[in-house]
Amino acid sequence: MKVPLPAAPAADAILMAERLKRAAGCVDDALDALLSGLSLEPRLVAAMKHGTLAGGKRVRPALVLETAALFGPPASGLVEAAAALELIHAFSLVHDDLPAMDDDALRRGQPTVHIAYDEASAILAGDGLHALAFALLSGGQTAELDPALRLDLIDALARGTLSMISGQMRDLAAEGRFATERPALTLEGVVGIQSEKTGALIAAAVDIGARIGGAGQDERRALGDYAARLGLAFQISDDLLDIAATAEEAGKATGKDAGAGKGTFVSLLGEDGATARLEEEIAAGLAALARLPAPAPFHAWLIGEMKGRRR
Ligand code: IPE
Ligand code: IPE
Ligand code: MG
Ligand code: MG
Ligand code: MG
Repeated sequence: MKVPLPAAPAADAILMAERLKRAAGCVDDALDALLSGLSLEPRLVAAMKHGTLAGGKRVRPALVLETAALFGPPASGLVEAAAALELIHAFSLVHDDLPAMDDDALRRGQPTVHIAYDEASAILAGDGLHALAFALLSGGQTAELDPALRLDLIDALARGTLSMISGQMRDLAAEGRFATERPALTLEGVVGIQSEKTGALIAAAVDIGARIGGAGQDERRALGDYAARLGLAFQISDDLLDIAATAEEAGKATGKDAGAGKGTFVSLLGEDGATARLEEEIAAGLAALARLPAPAPFHAWLIGEMKGRRR
């Protein structure tokens, strides 16, 4: 089923792209300051910086900031929470690129961490980024946070991270990497993998922003439904990008998923079927946003951007 998308006026699209850029700049500064201030073994810090600071669209931290902004002015701990999301994402990418996982040499237009440094350094850099994300939420600059809210944020990030890791495991299982029987490729299976490996952190970003902003139950539910659709749309568009974009555009190797036997919507439904499913997810995401009491133009723009993206 093809669902027509409402076209955003060009001026709005430019404004929203500008907002994403602004969010990225704010989080880049916070991450740079944080990583530069670490008194840890220098090669480890350098590898952690390499995996975090160079490039990246910063979609997850932008979702934290923009979701909180739906409910009021920036609150204490907001930027730290946004940075924590990006640290977990960066950790997931450093490990995703390792030879034992997707074995990729290019990420964000640069050599991956295990290429620029070495495999052991990349494993430890990922471990370091993972711990640092939680250190950021549990102490330091977020000291003013209400203790109950702080625990909720840590819990949301921990659950999102565990689901992401579970999704990565299922992703490899779907490729037939383990001695156990390779699971059959079904629509339900692909939705499960993608909701976990990509959707969970996106959902955590939206929920953490909503919690910091003080959203009510109904608002959190609507945003949760939106985030689930965005997560699927994001990974479907990543899988389409794998067949449509050049490595130069995407900043990472493309054209690899089919050969690797990845369990994606593209392998299951083909390019047209995956595109139709992407359009359905976008429409459903917009419908979820319509349940909010006020418009959420950034969120609406972002999910629409999943169509035809090149990076
Ligand atoms: C890539 O994520 C990995 C997926 C979950 C599909 P992004 O497309 O957000 O990558 P960066 O952070 O912009 O490099
Ligand atoms: C990665 O999915 C998802 C996570 C890192 C959790 P992919 O393996 O498709 O991401 P890319 O294409 O390498 O960015
Ligand atoms: Mg992968
Ligand atoms: Mg990969
Ligand atoms: Mg991919």
